[in-house]
Amino acid sequence: MALQAIKTFEIRLIPFKNFIKHSIRPLSSLPEFSKNKYNVKRKSFNLIEDAHVSFFQNLLGKERVLTDESELLSYNIDWIKNCRGESRVVLKPKCTEHVSAILKFCNDNNLAVCPQGGNTGLVGGSVPVFDEIVLSTEGMNNIISLDEISGVLVCEAGCILENLDNHLREHNLMMPLDLGAKGSCHIGGNISTNAGGLRLLRYGNLHGSVLGVEAVKADGEVIDCLGTLKKDNTGYHLKHLFIGSEGTLGIVTKVSINCPTLSSSINVAFLGVENFDNVLKLYQLAKSSLGEIMSAFEMADAASLETTIEHLKLQNPIGDYPFYVLIETSGSNESHDSEKLTEFLEKTMSSNLVLNGTYQTEPSRIKPIWALREGIPQAILYDGYVLKYDISLPLKDYYSIVPIMREKLGSDAVRICGYGHIGDGNIHVNIAIKEFSQEIIKKIEPYIYEYTSNLKGSVSAEHGIGFRKPNYIHYSKSNACLGLMKSLKNLMDPKGILNPYKVLPS
Ligand code: FAD
Ligand code: MLT
Ligand code: ZN
Repeated sequence: MALQAIKTFEIRLIPFKNFIKHSIRPLSSLPEFSKNKYNVKRKSFNLIEDAHVSFFQNLLGKERVLTDESELLSYNIDWIKNCRGESRVVLKPKCTEHVSAILKFCNDNNLAVCPQGGNTGLVGGSVPVFDEIVLSTEGMNNIISLDEISGVLVCEAGCILENLDNHLREHNLMMPLDLGAKGSCHIGGNISTNAGGLRLLRYGNLHGSVLGVEAVKADGEVIDCLGTLKKDNTGYHLKHLFIGSEGTLGIVTKVSINCPTLSSSINVAFLGVENFDNVLKLYQLAKSSLGEIMSAFEMADAASLETTIEHLKLQNPIGDYPFYVLIETSGSNESHDSEKLTEFLEKTMSSNLVLNGTYQTEPSRIKPIWALREGIPQAILYDGYVLKYDISLPLKDYYSIVPIMREKLGSDAVRICGYGHIGDGNIHVNIAIKEFSQEIIKKIEPYIYEYTSNLKGSVSAEHGIGFRKPNYIHYSKSNACLGLMKSLKNLMDPKGILNPYKVLPS
């Protein structure tokens, strides 16, 4: 097909839905309790008593202490409904002083705590395993300051990512991070998971863009590293301890973050590709042709796209192909950017790297294309019980695990699909099975982690370790590294009250 066809291709408008507003499947299908399902032994924390609840009510006010079972349910179950705890108390502090007082009290009374942001985490880290007290950052959602010249935003941990982005847009700035869960996830949760997302290839990860963090240690001590400087080499860079430590070393209460300027020219191309080799060739060509304006390079296989079309009733604007690539450019000069993109697309057509495609410049037409990609995690939940593998692999081996899994599982799987962030070497292998089955899981794990480790990949590229993966962390980290992690944990949380059963193997 000639380039002309790409340019004039009539895309049907797909209504954009904000998918990610908490659970989508009915709660009639309650998951089994994690403690039974994964056979976990409770650690010797104290049980919560009425006197503890009274302390919290006096501190926060009754309306910020939830104890009603029906209110607790959504805090006890994770987004993919793999994990379920049985917490009896959810606390909603309003400020750092509240968090500090809660943690000091819990530490003194040997009560375990599970920090929770938007509860969109995908590894079971955000929900309790037993009766840990849930400390939700929902009530801490103030923007503290925005320096429009430097682009530095300071805010509380409970701000929802999308709200921050909307606020910044009014000032010609944007968040350096974007993900499908933006409508629910909190910036504190993003930092605690070191979330990657859709534009990491352009804006880097949070270790770079987060300038400062305020966090509360297990004993209630406030660690103020909330600097707003872009350069500050005074001593150890403590903020990094809280980025990606999934609530096991402290609770993030405030953050300062470096925000890029909003791009005035955005284009999105959605392309159909014959095979994965061509996806890689396309990536190489995109890097050299688009250079600094490329802001996303995402891929999805046919099975991934089928889920959004089948379950979310979205429309595929270009017809059926084995692989799809979404390329976004963000720049400041419309004619320059579209000239570059057009030239790039011409090359892809003449070299037959692309079979068909469309590219869009209008926000109303770009959104439905992104929806096809961002909707995949939600859509696949309709297929049954979903097992998620979020791995980094060398690009030449990136997709290899998908056909292997299909071969291995045959009709045990309802669907196996692969999609992800090519620019980051991060593939999401999602396996939907009819219902939870240890026998089927044994065919996948630890095989998939061994496979990843043999290729020097990572068993968790961006979702973290949480509750579901501590037993597999050793596939990506040496004993010496794990030993140092345990020492840090002991130093910062000697009683182990913060997010127990998570991240480090017991
Ligand atoms: P939660 O789920 O509430 O918590 C996550 C972890 O952080 C838990 O261990 C919790 O204890 C801890 N935590 C939360 N808040 C704090 C705090 N203030 N202090 C200390 N610890 C805390 N992830 C990606 O990396 N990239 C993606 O592209 C991506 N896309 C997603 C798309 C969908 C549809 C969904 C459902 C999830 C996606 N995720 C993605 C996973 C998830 O959204 C991220 O991990 C996100 O950063 C979690 O934020 P949250 O506020 O929901 O945190
Ligand atoms: C994504 O890239 O869509 C997210 O990381 C969520 C997922 O893996 O399902
Ligand atoms: Zn992802």
